[in-house]
Amino acid sequence: MRSKVTVVGAGATGGSTARRLAERGYADVVLVDIVEGFAAGKALDLNQGLTLGGHSPSMIGADGYDETAGSDICVITSGFPRQPGMSRDDLLLKNKAIVEEVTADLVNRSPDCTLIILTNPMDAMAQLAQSVSGFPRSRVIGQGGLLDTARYRAFISWELDVSPEDVSGFVLGGHGDTMVPVPSFTSVAGVPVNELIDTERMEAIIKRTAGGGGEIVGLLKKGSAFEAPGEAVAMMCDAILMDRKRLFPCAVMLEGEYGIRDTFVGVLVKLGAGGMEEVLELDLSESELAGLRSSADSVRELIDVMGI
Ligand code: 2OP
Repeated sequence: MRSKVTVVGAGATGGSTARRLAERGYADVVLVDIVEGFAAGKALDLNQGLTLGGHSPSMIGADGYDETAGSDICVITSGFPRQPGMSRDDLLLKNKAIVEEVTADLVNRSPDCTLIILTNPMDAMAQLAQSVSGFPRSRVIGQGGLLDTARYRAFISWELDVSPEDVSGFVLGGHGDTMVPVPSFTSVAGVPVNELIDTERMEAIIKRTAGGGGEIVGLLKKGSAFEAPGEAVAMMCDAILMDRKRLFPCAVMLEGEYGIRDTFVGVLVKLGAGGMEEVLELDLSESELAGLRSSADSVRELIDVMGI
């Protein structure tokens, strides 16, 4: 039976996510937006593009949630994006009400789905979605780490003029200013990155990675990144719906791993048919572990503000 994926929020990120999923061809895609006609219009345009690309033009665009019933995965992208000069955390209270309502509307109709959260500040919003849904931690996953890792890998590949396919590594921590790129587990075709890039250049790459979303916001002037986030979600859906057992950095609820509890933060996890199937607890360097814990503390502050 074909899978079904709902994407809520038909803005730039939702549209990019829905298009990538529809091009993959393995799932029925429903795009939802509360602005009347917006998702229907976007889906029409996307279906016509899919037709030209040789894909099935079967995306549904809806103003409400009835069409989402029975989804295997529901992706939440709704909410206000950052503007230049704003941090992701500045969006907390504006986006809280939206994510609460959207989560409730989705899980009422798809009680067995896996939720993937993009709305910023993402880690806190993922924790909110888990609190509203009551889902187990295996079925509420925040997207952020894969996007941050894409930036990190791209910068390393540019630095060395090698294919990003050969750059392996990941970024942990919250999807915000306190994120933690992890050089001790970064390699290029198996060669530890510190044998190829000196400390000063590596520090510059780490800094650019942590500010990667803001760099794009500053250049776009209006809105934030949407192409790489869309691809990151599609890769997470591939892993879950095709039981690929991929190891991706994602925000999940920690239950004591790394000494962190009851807080969503980005760690390396296994994604498969069971959703988030395993948290990998790695032997991080002292400073990386301290960075991860301090990043979790920053997420916790947002959660406390929300009172959940
Ligand atoms: C980013 O980092 C939008 O949070 C997203 O670009």
